Amino acid sequence: MLTWVGKRPLKRVTAFPAQLVETFNPLGAKGDWQNLLFHGDNKEVLAWLLANGFRDKVNLIYIDPPFDSGADYVRKVQLRGASGIANIDGEAYSLGEQIQYTDIWANDSYLQFMYERVLLLKGLLATNGAIFVHVDPRRAHHIQCLLDEVFGQDNFQNSICWKRSPFAGSSKARAHRYPANHDVIFFYSKSDDFTFKHNYSEYSQEYLTRFKNPDNDPRGPYRLTLLKSYSPERFEQWKSEGRLASPKTPGAGWSYKQYLAESKGVQADDFWDAIGQNGEELLNSAGTMWGDINLDNPMANARTDYPTQKPEALIERVLLCCSSPGDIVLDGFIGSGTTAAVAQKLGRRWIGCDINKGAIRVTSKRVQTIIREQMEAQRQGSLLTADVGETPKPVSLAFSVYRVNDYDIAIQHNEAVNLACEHLGVQRTRTDACFDGTQGKKLVKIVPLTHPLTLLDLEEMERELKSRPKEDRDVLMVCLGKELAVDGWLAERNRHRPVNKIEVIELRTDKKYGKFFTHRPATARVDIKRAKGKIVVEIKDFISPSIIERLNMDQTVFKAQITDWRAMVDSVMIDTAYDGQVFNVALTDVPERKVDLVAGRYELPAPTGPATVAVKITDMLGEEVLVAKRLE
Ligand SMILES: C[S@@+](CC[C@H](N)C(=O)[O-])C[C@H]1O[C@@H](n2cnc3c(N)ncnc32)[C@H](O)[C@@H]1O
Repeated sequence: MLTWVGKRPLKRVTAFPAQLVETFNPLGAKGDWQNLLFHGDNKEVLAWLLANGFRDKVNLIYIDPPFDSGADYVRKVQLRGASGIANIDGEAYSLGEQIQYTDIWANDSYLQFMYERVLLLKGLLATNGAIFVHVDPRRAHHIQCLLDEVFGQDNFQNSICWKRSPFAGSSKARAHRYPANHDVIFFYSKSDDFTFKHNYSEYSQEYLTRFKNPDNDPRGPYRLTLLKSYSPERFEQWKSEGRLASPKTPGAGWSYKQYLAESKGVQADDFWDAIGQNGEELLNSAGTMWGDINLDNPMANARTDYPTQKPEALIERVLLCCSSPGDIVLDGFIGSGTTAAVAQKLGRRWIGCDINKGAIRVTSKRVQTIIREQMEAQRQGSLLTADVGETPKPVSLAFSVYRVNDYDIAIQHNEAVNLACEHLGVQRTRTDACFDGTQGKKLVKIVPLTHPLTLLDLEEMERELKSRPKEDRDVLMVCLGKELAVDGWLAERNRHRPVNKIEVIELRTDKKYGKFFTHRPATARVDIKRAKGKIVVEIKDFISPSIIERLNMDQTVFKAQITDWRAMVDSVMIDTAYDGQVFNVALTDVPERKVDLVAGRYELPAPTGPATVAVKITDMLGEEVLVAKRLE
């Protein structure tokens, strides 16, 4: 069993309430099921699911967690539009890079992080379910030990090697070792009874030429394979069915006719090959098939510019193999939404979660596009009558976005830690898994700004200090807000304590440091009215101080002047019957290409009677502005 510093089972997780923030339900369907997208830390989201009826209910889990690579995953942020819209020289529209999420755990905390998630996931998995865990080879051996411990060695099914790209890495990576070009995907079940259907891929052209029909066999082209072991009865049966070819020379063996029409293709094994857009040279070494996982075409809709996006074909293989139409598929690290997209296309129900707002936005946009396509297909009747092969009917043409805790704060933890440290004069330490630095003689811990300081955080700190008996410094915990119970607990704890006193700075209310948050929100001027029986929405202006600031930070840009506000806007959504809480998407305007701009003016069917119309504008940095107006 693998152990690490601070290893502890999950005794207690708080299931915070989930708040419904957005729904996409263009047909207004009221079915039993709506797909679920959660914005929050998956530890809390999984706890919520366990507390809300999903224990043992999930049929298939795929997760692709961060890799403990110490890297920041960034997305290049650009303004929209063609030249002339933003009056900027040089690198015309780049807003630089935005951290999508950071991969900052030091060894032991990474293992504890994964351990806790895997334990919660097991609770959600159905007895006949399966879990696929996608990892980097540098961490694979640890994760495998962890999965063995949680699911049991007997439930290990495969360690899949996925070749990421048909072409090896950079020349630098090649200098002293082989270029790294594969990920590992562990496949575990919860019991020995689980859904599994073999995947087959198409034969190569070369292989197909081996199927011939010299004797006009009514079953069509076939190839001959020498018969090796068979029972006499079998032999007679095949012979009478005309499935055998007699020996070519006396004394040679009989051959079996393998008909093309009865062949399912090449059965997938645990080595998954890559195929690029120039698939020609990608026959696998046996020459029998095309490399089998199609990488998404960078120009296609499926590409989202998300740094760690996985190809749909990869997830599709997992879903086809270990789930059936209607099953619940869960991905707790949804990223750009690949799992949700594939599940939606394959008629599975899905639950996704991500801590990053950008990921939720990208996923939501991606699934909306798919649902619209499915509605169009239904309208044309192609999916109405029956399931077509592997493409069953979608279970639901709707999904809801929930928020568990408030992760809205746009700055990622890591950026926030940097800012907070700078602000408080904290000397950074990068080698300590627990503390972020020191301030004078105190150890400093920045509590993730995405949740208030809780008793659980304090208990964890207490445990940490107990594990460091020689440590005699006091501790400063910096948080954005705190639970009510914290002050009492601290006063009690700190009384008569000579060393390791814990002090808390609450950024939201602190007199000295409270200026930390001076974010100037984006604003919009929107005209909303009724005209000729329609609702007309016209966005007159949009200003994002953060975008302007970013542009001005860039030394090469003298003074940014954006002449068309639409360059700053990524998407516009409209709800024509806003209830003040949940945004019901009635119209979305997200131009597919980066050079295209949102329309800015919209006409929608007017609801009968008075209604509140809400317009949600999201800018290129992910900041949202909501403007609502009541129309009588
Ligand atoms: C490797 S990416 C997943 C990519 C995804 N498979 C795709 O195809 O786009 C990992 C994701 O996990 C998210 N993440 C990291 N820590 C998380 C946490 N504690 N809770 C929820 N999501 C988290 C990150 O924001 C990131 O989007």
